[in-house]
Amino acid sequence: MTTEFDMTGKVALVTGASSGFGVHFAKNLACRGAKVVVAARRLDRLHDLVSEIRDSGGEAAAVEMDVTCSESVIVAFDQGESEFGTFTVVANNAGVADVRSALKIDEGSWDTMMDTNLKGVWLVAQQAALRMIAAGIGGSIVNTASILGLRVTFGQSSYSASKAAVVQLTKALSVEWARKGIRVNALCPGYFLTEMTEAAFASPQSQAYLGSSPAGRAGEMDEITAPFLLLASDAGSYLHGVALPVDGGQSIGNM
Ligand SMILES: NC(=O)c1ccc[n+]([C@@H]2O[C@H](COP(=O)([O-])OP(=O)(O)OC[C@H]3O[C@@H](n4cnc5c(N)ncnc54)[C@H](OP(=O)(O)O)[C@@H]3O)[C@@H](O)[C@H]2O)c1
Repeated sequence: MTTEFDMTGKVALVTGASSGFGVHFAKNLACRGAKVVVAARRLDRLHDLVSEIRDSGGEAAAVEMDVTCSESVIVAFDQGESEFGTFTVVANNAGVADVRSALKIDEGSWDTMMDTNLKGVWLVAQQAALRMIAAGIGGSIVNTASILGLRVTFGQSSYSASKAAVVQLTKALSVEWARKGIRVNALCPGYFLTEMTEAAFASPQSQAYLGSSPAGRAGEMDEITAPFLLLASDAGSYLHGVALPVDGGQSIGNM
């Protein structure tokens, strides 16, 4: 598996790398030989992650990026490229959630959701593709969608809408960019314990909900490693526009 998912020679950008999946993706890319630029708004956390990767023998750098702001995205790409060159792997992973009834969502929350989860994914993907094409190289973009991009649940209407749009965006971009050597795919995780989900995880309702799923439990962080690397690495060279559930069967449902 280590050989199959070798990342030697790759230059990777991971957004949303200050916690959760982003930290995990960055470490896994770095330990397989990629030079990794980690991006988010909380720079202090990114610096800690860079130190950890370097202490383990990897190469990494941190850039501040607010994915909702095109100027911030462009500046971060410029800074990241000046460290290691053009990105050939992009984990387009930053996202937010807001668990509230559709009747209680306000306009500000709706805009933040769409600006982060949808516009942010588009801005980063477009910037990555423009630069890969300008450099005459291909690459792989892995968008973090969700099983809530495939199905719905109570209290997550804006999140589900944003992630469904990410799934469609992934397919649309993959059709446009495949002949340019750029693969675009999406991960659709089920429930994993991160800062985003820790409050929900604590509730008995969530535990009951997870218990009723086919696997009957949440995912362990290491269970998303191989699915991510499959989409990100050359092992997935014939995968285009895939929305891959990593969810213990939860998106299939249990009738
Ligand atoms: N955990 C799950 O069960 C689960 C399931 C399905 C999908 N997902 C998706 O997985 C992705 C990662 O989430 P997570 O679970 O790892 O949650 P998390 O620990 O809360 O991480 C979210 C990351 O997104 C970053 N972020 C948020 N807004 C940003 C912005 N405007 N600009 C730049 N970065 C921003 C945060 O960094 P800063 O605050 O430092 O900027 C943080 O690094 C998200 O897209 C989420 O929707 C998670």
